[in-house]
Amino acid sequence: MSWMQDELEADDMVALRPQNLFDLSGKVAIVTGAAGGLGSWISAGLAASGASVVMTDLSAGAIDRTASAIRKAGADILEVACDLTAENAPAGIVEAALARYGRVDVLVNNAGANRRERIFDVQEESWELIANLNLKIPFELSRKCAGEMAKGSGGSIIHVGSLNNAIGLQGVSVYGAHKAAMCQLAKSMSVEWASLGIRVNAICPGFMLTPLSEPLWQDPKRGPWLLERSLLKRPGYPREIVGICLLLASEAGSFMTGQTYYVDGGWLAGTPWDA
Ligand SMILES: NC(=O)c1ccc[n+]([C@@H]2O[C@H](COP(=O)([O-])OP(=O)(O)OC[C@H]3O[C@@H](n4cnc5c(N)ncnc54)[C@H](O)[C@@H]3O)[C@@H](O)[C@H]2O)c1
Repeated sequence: MSWMQDELEADDMVALRPQNLFDLSGKVAIVTGAAGGLGSWISAGLAASGASVVMTDLSAGAIDRTASAIRKAGADILEVACDLTAENAPAGIVEAALARYGRVDVLVNNAGANRRERIFDVQEESWELIANLNLKIPFELSRKCAGEMAKGSGGSIIHVGSLNNAIGLQGVSVYGAHKAAMCQLAKSMSVEWASLGIRVNAICPGFMLTPLSEPLWQDPKRGPWLLERSLLKRPGYPREIVGICLLLASEAGSFMTGQTYYVDGGWLAGTPWDA
């Protein structure tokens, strides 16, 4: 560690070019839920910045559609089809990554599940599924990846939370509670793993347009309500989550850890009274 102030040199102008600051060449990233609305764009973004990407999701067919498009641009992709809730799935994903690349530098815990049930109607099975996919599995996979990152020069772990962790919404109590816990986990992990060179953050999308959220946007009551509250008067598009992921995964985010970042089109900021 140096206590000297950073003096700007001419060479820094090269290091500061976006293609260098956000460069992930030689890095290996694992993305869960990689065939989904956000996961496919996150995978593509990491690959476009030079990372080899381990794309994991339920079915090979679903991953392959996105992976083929990314490979056409010359990127290196490993597809791992597995159910994250299956026994030892996190270990299997990390083993597959190590067998092919020998290292893990970035993990994006993106896969998630939601069931829209009012509190009186919440089923035990819904609780289990939501808790597992949004909290327990990210916890396990992070531990496995952090162990490998610690053997190298560290890494970056990104949990995908939700704006729902900052605001109460009807019918999604269990989901919101576990997403909030996931963001809290980013803090605890950042505290325990900073000394290993591992940064851990959470990103919270607002209402994006993906297969998961499409029924909301189509709903005659909830669709207009969502638009009315949005400062930008439109849904977010999956490509709009890529920037924050690249920032947190790369050298550009080297001083960022233990935080939660909202990408929500201003949804949580408030609403003008004359909207
Ligand atoms: N879309 C939104 O508006 C929004 C808003 C806030 C947070 N999020 C969060 O962003 C993340 C991605 O959401 P999305 O909208 O892209 O969802 P999506 O449903 O489009 O994609 C989720 C992916 O996870 C995979 N998946 C689900 N269960 C799995 C399992 N057991 N094993 C392996 N893979 C499994 C699915 O096959 C799917 O491809 C989720 O964590 C979600 O909670 C989304």
